[in-house]
Amino acid sequence: MVSNVKAVVELVDVWKMYKVGDIITWGLRGVDLKVFKGDFIAIMGPSGSGKTTLLNIMGLLDKPTKGKVFIDGIEASKLSSRDLAIVRNRKIGFVFQQFNLISRLTIYENLELPLIPSGLNAKERRERIVSTLKSVGGDEAWLRKKPTQLSGGQQQRVAIARALVNNPSLILADEPTGNLDRASAKTVIQTFMNLNAKGQTIVIVTHDPEVANCTNKIYVIRDGKIVSVEEPDKDRCLALRA
Ligand SMILES: Nc1ncnc2c1ncn2[C@@H]1O[C@H](COP(=O)(O)OP(=O)(O)OP(=O)(O)O)[C@@H](O)[C@H]1O
Ligand SMILES: [Mg+2]
Repeated sequence: MVSNVKAVVELVDVWKMYKVGDIITWGLRGVDLKVFKGDFIAIMGPSGSGKTTLLNIMGLLDKPTKGKVFIDGIEASKLSSRDLAIVRNRKIGFVFQQFNLISRLTIYENLELPLIPSGLNAKERRERIVSTLKSVGGDEAWLRKKPTQLSGGQQQRVAIARALVNNPSLILADEPTGNLDRASAKTVIQTFMNLNAKGQTIVIVTHDPEVANCTNKIYVIRDGKIVSVEEPDKDRCLALRA
């Protein structure tokens, strides 16, 4: 299909049904969405509107009940579960509200985990880890520490580095500032802005208008459907405030 050649991810009429016992819930009800290289998109909407469902389907963590998902032009439903895992590991980086770093491992080891299948040798892995950590404003002294020895904002920047370390086509972040105080949220959103300025494609789910206003486009979702697309107001971006 020619139309999706340039999209990093494209959703075509995506529906998602959850069935628990006899109870059916529609998480998504016909979503069409294209994300292009260099986009920085916020997804906003009330609790239960389908934001996490949408992100999980974009990131190949979950499959639609109906509709198609293309990643870099590859149709996800055509892949075996093994190939799906490979595409997910190479092309998509996830950032979560709870950071999800492994507490018994050092920061270095946390950042090394996604690189294990890459075929890089130990020296190449170290170089990649150090440069990626620096790209999120991190400090090499963090590498020997355990996650709990860092602040929340520092841990989230490590989590962003972990998402980035394989040079993915797309970063997906679900409420990445939801667990942070304002000052830490500001450093995290500033980190995303810096990465996007260097060309990284990013989609973030947020409840916070001051975070959404730092992106380049806001999609509003309600009852499983995208109901509007809004232009952010940069004067109300958290990271650009005094
Ligand atoms: N695993 C599941 N099983 C059954 N229903 C689910 C499941 N996951 C989500 N849902 C339902 O699908 C709908 C969308 O949920 P989703 O988690 O995507 O919302 P959300 O917008 O991320 O909400 P929040 O802002 O609270 O995180 C909700 O009605 C939810 O109850
Ligand atoms: Mg959610």
